[in-house]
Amino acid sequence: MCGIVGYIGPDQAAPFLLEGLSKLEYRGYDSAGIAVFDGSKIHVDKSVGRLNVLAKKVEISPLKGSLGIGHTRWATHGRPSDANSHPHTDCTGKFVVVHNGIIENYMHLKEELIAKGHIFTSETDTEVVAHLIEECYEGDFEAAVKKVLGRIEGSYALVFMCQDEPGKLICTKQDNPLVIGLGEGENFIASDIPAIISRTRKTYILSDGEMAIVTPESVWVMNRQGVPVTKKVFEVNWDAEAAEKGGYEHFMIKEIYEQPKAVRETMTSRVAKDDSGITFDELKWTKDDVAGIKKIAVVACGTAYHAGIVGKYLIENLARIPVEVDVASEFRYRSPLVDDQTLAIVISQSGETLDTLAALKEAKNLGARTLAITNVVGSSIAREADQVIYTWAGPEIAVASTKAYTTQLVVMAMLATYMGAIKGTLAQEKVSELCNALRELPNQVHELLEDVEPIKTFAQQYGFNEDVFFIGRSLDYAVALEGSLKLKEISYIHAEAYAAGELKHGTLALIIEGVPVIALATQHDVYEKTLSNIKEVKARDAVVIGIGLKGDKQIEKYVDHTIFIPATNKFLTPILSVIPLQLLAYYAAVTRGCDVDKPRNLAKSVTVE
Ligand code: F6R
Repeated sequence: MCGIVGYIGPDQAAPFLLEGLSKLEYRGYDSAGIAVFDGSKIHVDKSVGRLNVLAKKVEISPLKGSLGIGHTRWATHGRPSDANSHPHTDCTGKFVVVHNGIIENYMHLKEELIAKGHIFTSETDTEVVAHLIEECYEGDFEAAVKKVLGRIEGSYALVFMCQDEPGKLICTKQDNPLVIGLGEGENFIASDIPAIISRTRKTYILSDGEMAIVTPESVWVMNRQGVPVTKKVFEVNWDAEAAEKGGYEHFMIKEIYEQPKAVRETMTSRVAKDDSGITFDELKWTKDDVAGIKKIAVVACGTAYHAGIVGKYLIENLARIPVEVDVASEFRYRSPLVDDQTLAIVISQSGETLDTLAALKEAKNLGARTLAITNVVGSSIAREADQVIYTWAGPEIAVASTKAYTTQLVVMAMLATYMGAIKGTLAQEKVSELCNALRELPNQVHELLEDVEPIKTFAQQYGFNEDVFFIGRSLDYAVALEGSLKLKEISYIHAEAYAAGELKHGTLALIIEGVPVIALATQHDVYEKTLSNIKEVKARDAVVIGIGLKGDKQIEKYVDHTIFIPATNKFLTPILSVIPLQLLAYYAAVTRGCDVDKPRNLAKSVTVE
């Protein structure tokens, strides 16, 4: 996820570009850059770090001109650095491009362009686009962009600038957002409305496959076949603050709704479109590499720790390797039994959590191989680990983690399948089944998010209870832990998760009339046992909300309310069953008037012990 902007008109471009980017920093903030045409030449200024680093540079040496594009980056391909920052240029410096998305076939294109003599200066997928347009240009900017679009695969929002045709900007999108702000004698381009709302409220929202030629006086939109498209003007009526959250009331709910996309991006270029299985270009493990792992130690904190618990079930079941899961603050001080036959997997959204970083260093000292699963490219944990798998969820702003968790689960499912396939514990048929089920997930998450009204009602109904219990067995228990953390951290309701079979060993004493119990029953092999536990709490007059698989006719007989999730492979159910729990926590917190995005006493990134 990155933010992009463009300006064409009579005013100076740089002030708008910098202001617009400041409203898009929620989309990425590891580096920023702008390119401005000064009447004869395009000048680029970019730098790693927050936008204010770039703003200071521009203040000292202003970029003058009234045509420009800008970018704020959230690194995917290539660590955050000056060279990897956008805008990217071709060898001549005449073509400049900013990009949000992932060009999936960039390696293939890069090899082809290098063979033709192009010299690359960054590790990014985007730079390929700049060189490709140089290669395709035969005196017609628009025709060259069309040729580029015919060659690239993946997701993108792109804005192009051409020194030889400075009267226009060309932009296009596929799977990433792009809006055009319509001004008087000037026009604006941006990833999102907050960037342009101070200049205009009239917009065109581009659809996938559309391309626009933007001049100061006009905006021509066409589809992929070059057929003109008549766009309806979308008049923005939100205030600026709401616009930053894309019209959502809080970042948390916005991020919950971003999960179909985040899950899809995490799988991009890892889950094959055919039946060939899972690839991790960043690992490239051989049979010997996997055979050498005698034990896995998963270490993390909070929500990431809960993703680790799911990971244990998956890796042990699919790859048959023993897995221990620790919270990082315990692992560091318990003299763990870790050696050179251990793979230590650390999970961290931010990549900066101090305890997780220290645990990673401890595992390394003890001789373990280390693998980080993180969302932030170039973070401390990413740099310290031997190998890294990025989750590609995009920036997560709300303190309560949602899309980072689901994408960590996707990585765990892919990793367990990958190791099982290499080790031979998973037959090809099972690998295909899992891949097919993974590919279904983005649509299934979307489906769950379409019908939130019943969950809202439960949250309003039970949001004022002071205690809530979550129960489940096997993978459902792991999700119960996350559901209870989500609820307590943002609504301040006392919530506890229990392995359903453990209830009668003490906790049942707390189940009295009217206490809400959220019971997850999505695991076929322990289904009857979970139903017995549901009956136990019902017998004590608890109010039970059951989470079951679509098509389950039995569960409704034993619970007060049911939320159904789409049926999927049993190892993937956590990625779906956690969604109603996130929503329940969110709407309970809203009902109680809590500060959802910034719950009391908590911080997004815990860099102290
Ligand atoms: C809860 C939450 C925290 C984090 C924990 C670890 O919603 O977000 O529990 O999961 O602080 O943070 P990272 O993943 O950045 O290491």
